[in-house]
Amino acid sequence: SRTISLAVIPGDGIGKEVVAEGLKVLGAVLPSDVKLETRAYDFGAARYHATGETLTDDDLAALKAHDAILLGAIGDPSVPSGVLERGFLLKLRFAFDHHVNLRPGKLLPGVTSPLAGKDDIDFVVVREGTEGPYTGNGGVLRAGTPHEVATEVSLNTAFGIERVVRDAYTRAQARPRRKLTLVHKNNVLVHAGHLWSRIFAEVGRDFPEVTTDYLHVDAATIFFVTQPERFDVIVTDNLFGDIITDLAAAITGGIGLAASGNINPSGDFPSMFEPVHGSAPDIAGQGKADPTATVLSVALLLQHLGYDQEAARVEAAVAADLAERGTGTRSTSAVGDALAARVAG
Ligand code: IPM
Ligand code: MN
Repeated sequence: SRTISLAVIPGDGIGKEVVAEGLKVLGAVLPSDVKLETRAYDFGAARYHATGETLTDDDLAALKAHDAILLGAIGDPSVPSGVLERGFLLKLRFAFDHHVNLRPGKLLPGVTSPLAGKDDIDFVVVREGTEGPYTGNGGVLRAGTPHEVATEVSLNTAFGIERVVRDAYTRAQARPRRKLTLVHKNNVLVHAGHLWSRIFAEVGRDFPEVTTDYLHVDAATIFFVTQPERFDVIVTDNLFGDIITDLAAAITGGIGLAASGNINPSGDFPSMFEPVHGSAPDIAGQGKADPTATVLSVALLLQHLGYDQEAARVEAAVAADLAERGTGTRSTSAVGDALAARVAG
């Protein structure tokens, strides 16, 4: 019999609520010969207030032993902005080399697009996850003076770009339309932009069947709204990817449906799956949060671990639920119950 060893990080705010439903669905969809072993980690604001600590080396060593990680959300208004995000979430992505941040933008059947007349939205964003402006490179000079200077240096390595671009080409090659769009801003960010463009062209020679395209990030935001069907696979840097995937969520049913995987394709470290949304402290603890994004992240997790049929069943259950959802409101656990019942049945 097979075993999945899963690290569970509920985190802050609605993270706890949505993760409980994700686990419910995961438990329901797995075949009976697969044993699910979970271990919960108490990362987030509570741990920070109690110990003053964020992610430790011991945490990383413990997490490394799992097959995968399911995360709810990290971030809380009681802690200055960035402390928990950097100290837990980004630290995990960097330490476990999650360089492929996979974010599907798919309008599922039953979801009405806010874009009138658009019903064929189906793309995936491959966001670089370990470089760009997220590395913490830079700093502050002459702090507190009128001449204070802050720099945030974007780090781009040929190695880092090559591997994420190759991953994106490989994904594009496996999809029916075989199209890959590079999104950057190489008319202004000439150093990093030209390195991305050059490597994009070079790696493309290994994928003659993939059609390629380039868009500046500002123009890309227009096409997300006016012509989202033009996108198949998109590859982009960490910060551009952060921004355009919120827009992607908005055009495919909202942030309550947007799933993501932080992937380490080599398997040297466990990959981490999480909804794109945050901890939503304004609605935390009220049973109002939509767990669907977490459930769809569980589908990505299943796919990553090779459970393709189970992943497809979770996605089908979500699509069927969305089709019957209407405008009524259900609690977080009611949505989880309905999805668990569908995947089991
Ligand atoms: C996301 C989030 C994070 C990011 C924050 C919370 C650090 O916005 O997962 O998209 O910027 O990557
Ligand atoms: Mn974001």
